[in-house]
Amino acid sequence: MIRLEGVGKRFAGGAMALDGVDLTVARGEVFGIIGRSGAGKSTLIRLLNGLERPTAGAVIVDGADVAGLDGAALRAMRRRIGMIFQQFGLLASRTVADNVAFPLRIAGTPRGQAAARVAELLDRVGLSDHGHKYPAQLSGGQKQRVGIARALATGPDILLSDEATSALDPETTRDVLALIADLNRDLGLTIVLITHEMDVVRQVCDRVAVLHAGRVVETGSVADIFLDPQAAETRALLAEAGEQGPAAFPNFAGRIVRWTCHGATIGEPVLTMVARETGADFAILDGRIGRLRDESYGQLTLGLSGGDTEAAIAALGRYGRVTA
Ligand SMILES: Nc1ncnc2c1ncn2[C@@H]1O[C@H](COP(=O)(O)OP(=O)(O)OP(=O)(O)O)[C@@H](O)[C@H]1O
Ligand SMILES: [Mg+2]
Repeated sequence: MIRLEGVGKRFAGGAMALDGVDLTVARGEVFGIIGRSGAGKSTLIRLLNGLERPTAGAVIVDGADVAGLDGAALRAMRRRIGMIFQQFGLLASRTVADNVAFPLRIAGTPRGQAAARVAELLDRVGLSDHGHKYPAQLSGGQKQRVGIARALATGPDILLSDEATSALDPETTRDVLALIADLNRDLGLTIVLITHEMDVVRQVCDRVAVLHAGRVVETGSVADIFLDPQAAETRALLAEAGEQGPAAFPNFAGRIVRWTCHGATIGEPVLTMVARETGADFAILDGRIGRLRDESYGQLTLGLSGGDTEAAIAALGRYGRVTA
């Protein structure tokens, strides 16, 4: 659905915001982009809807080179891409219904048809009773729902989200993300989501790209990026976000391994079975068990001592992945 080929963006002042970015987002995917402040995330997302133009490379959306579009073709392409923002971007002097109707008015949709569409959209985001209110009368989560309804007004195939939940508390964030996940599933929307919140990525994304100083340093499934990050920049980013435990346990005398497992294995008494079978003892030094989108995962740092340690490591390998 989206393909970036060798994309660079140098701003007028000379700042190189993006450099040699290659990226592919499949149709119907929820794709996350993470990276430090200034990494180029917002610039990248603005290239996708033609708000910025690349200074190198090509941005291809559904087969069309965005940089090659202008006038009517660019407007038509933008109707297929909705966008939501951290600060919601609502018009304070307009009602909720008028805010949602705004893109329809610009697109020249007849009044009656627009009113029906607005009612449908407000229902979709759970705000049917709030159409007459003004943005100041809504909570943050409700404002973002209005932002989402407005982004969906023209029936886009792609939804871009630039830190859309960053101004919301954790519970409201979960609600808004659940809505985004529903839209992805029910409407088949392709979603590109920028965030600095790792919980957001864990809850809704299928794949992630890590952006660092204008370059993509790593791309992979959410499980790959969180459980087995390869790039030093990714490791540093996750460590700062409190995602990785301390790596060294100098006071532990036995063998230390990291064991990662997914899915059904989480419900199995693997450690006690392996302990009985091999006589090895396990100390759990660090770890977490949680969810990545719809799948359970566990990652434990285990200290092994006694019994047949090598057999225990081999047995763990049958239920998951063992790394040193
Ligand atoms: N319009 C502009 N003119 C000049 N430089 C810009 C412009 N927009 C962004 N930049 C520069 O490009 C780089 C990337 O900015 P960008 O906004 O894409 O970062 P970001 O990853 O979204 O950061 P944040 O997490 O803080 O939102 C920064 O160094 C920024 O100063
Ligand atoms: Mg930004």
